Amino acid sequence: MRILNLEEKPFVELPFLNAGRGIGSFFEDLLPVFVGTVDRMPQGVDALVVTSDLQGREHFQFQSEAELRLLGEWLPKVLRESVIPLIHSSAEQVGVLLCGDFYTVPNLDKRGGSGDVTSVWNAFGSEFSWVVGVAGNHDTFGTDPFRPPTFRPPLYFLDCNSKTVSGLEVAGISGIVGNPAKAWRKTAESFENFIFSLANKQPDILLMHDGPNAPKFGYLGTPSIRESLGLLDRPLVIRGHAHWENPLVETANGLQILNVDARVVILTQGMG
Ligand SMILES: [Fe+2]
Repeated sequence: MRILNLEEKPFVELPFLNAGRGIGSFFEDLLPVFVGTVDRMPQGVDALVVTSDLQGREHFQFQSEAELRLLGEWLPKVLRESVIPLIHSSAEQVGVLLCGDFYTVPNLDKRGGSGDVTSVWNAFGSEFSWVVGVAGNHDTFGTDPFRPPTFRPPLYFLDCNSKTVSGLEVAGISGIVGNPAKAWRKTAESFENFIFSLANKQPDILLMHDGPNAPKFGYLGTPSIRESLGLLDRPLVIRGHAHWENPLVETANGLQILNVDARVVILTQGMG
């Protein structure tokens, strides 16, 4: 899958609360939603919602319960009811691609907290047709941080495996490069070996939380992962974890890397 066009300016920016450091240090922030087109949508799918690193909570103005919902619990319904209809008039079937890190502590007084994001996946699953994604380094599914989720269709969790949804082959690897004794950490070699294993599969999309760097722009990531991606036939690589100023980078050999850290990208079918 190739992105044909990605609008430079956000289509809309949604208010939320971002965590600070210390009691009462949270601040209002805006989640940008970008719109783009691709050469080939999955069969029967009208739009794809792609996001990661929603490390905030709903704005007070939307609060309905004692505890502020996670940004990713609040967001799916807003996208389905208020945003997507403005982009695609009849988007009945919408697929979701998630690249991890959807937790923020309830009091918004600590950055980089870890916690259970099962409710975020469920929220996307109840608003949209299917969800495929990977875990970020701050995500847990239940109380054991080492335990992967046990989702039922149409939620599909990936970690060093692939799933075909609506005729689209999606591969995924969870976590970040780091000490494998810790949850959701792997050696760089593990990332590379998984990428090598995809050579005879040639997925349309590769979902990652950590991933390649983009040295031309000074964007953070792992050089050896970027190099190993050269073996594949240019899947659309989607990653989070490190914020890149520009969401879409294309390498010299035509590999596209979409960075959805703290942003949403909505993709629809392009022309030609
Ligand atoms: Fe992360």
